[in-house]
Amino acid sequence: MTKTIVNSWNEWDPLRHVIVGRADDCHIPPEEPALDAKVPEDSDMRGQWGRRPQETIDRANELLDNFASLLTKRGIRVDRPTSIDHSKPVTTPDFHTDSQFGCMPPRDVLLTVGAEILEATMSYRCRWFEYLNYRPLLQRYWEEDPNFRHEAAPKPRLTDADYHPDYLSEKIGVAQRLKWAEEKHFVTTEEEPLFDAADVLRFGRDLVVQHGFTTNLKGIEWLRRHFPDHRVHTVNFPGDPYPIHIDATFTPLRPGLILNNPQRRLPDDQRKLFNDNDWEIVDAAQPAHNTPPPLCYSSTWLSMNVLVLDPKTVCVEASEVYQMEQMDKLGMEVVPVELRDAYAFGGGLHCCTADVYREGGCEDYFP
Ligand code: NVA
Repeated sequence: MTKTIVNSWNEWDPLRHVIVGRADDCHIPPEEPALDAKVPEDSDMRGQWGRRPQETIDRANELLDNFASLLTKRGIRVDRPTSIDHSKPVTTPDFHTDSQFGCMPPRDVLLTVGAEILEATMSYRCRWFEYLNYRPLLQRYWEEDPNFRHEAAPKPRLTDADYHPDYLSEKIGVAQRLKWAEEKHFVTTEEEPLFDAADVLRFGRDLVVQHGFTTNLKGIEWLRRHFPDHRVHTVNFPGDPYPIHIDATFTPLRPGLILNNPQRRLPDDQRKLFNDNDWEIVDAAQPAHNTPPPLCYSSTWLSMNVLVLDPKTVCVEASEVYQMEQMDKLGMEVVPVELRDAYAFGGGLHCCTADVYREGGCEDYFP
């Protein structure tokens, strides 16, 4: 008897099976070009590296475990990765880095499209081997589900030719960064295809991909050739001085409705697809916090990094009162989930998960 384990075509159909990351052995990796470009110049992350303090790992794991059991109680199957030793250095013929990152967040590494889970190329050297945390799960799915397609994008070389040296300067300043973002001049070059899975949003037949620090145009072209039955759309958000990962910028909630970060609005000339098909793009509510928690890479806009359980139900971080209120007004049932103390490990509720199975098939939302 065949059993379908892997099936997910969009960000909102009823969720039945998901991977939730772990904070085990997470490290702040040493300096490297693409990672440095993302860290704001006044951040407490600057100049730090090493294993994260154990008490912060324990607290983050407590929150991730609670989130996993909340999902399980709602009837959703939850799987967890198996942490590798992230203190191990990575050496390839082309680069060396003294430590790795962690097994958070899975959304950055794994892209589920239908019956396929694709391991992204990744664009940070410290994340080159991150897929290994998920291999035990992916091997199991492969054995259990004869239709599961386990794919891996070509591993990039990540030599210095992959990074623009002008992003390595100590002091760039936000004004210069915004100018570069407007010009689509990002830290990654077009040396070879690069993408992180969290730059991709799935809308059935359409994939919407952010071009920025972690995904270059060749990476998007690679996705286009890899998914020949999909339409792949490139988007930019020029208001973002640190453009990595689309899921604190553009958040689809259900067919016809997307939240957009009001500081990172989708430019008018990129709205045609949505406007022509009567999709509404609304400004997300303001975050409840003025600063991210300590030692956190992400911005306060993790407020909109939500996990949609079905088109009427959404998990929102429990301290994000304005975001919860807005969801309520938009007709969503809100499930509050405490996660802020795990943000430093790589993101919010969407980031810390990866879809395995959502009900439904591949629809065309933009005919
Ligand atoms: N670009 C993002 C990452 C979110 C997961 C930020 O706002 O920090």
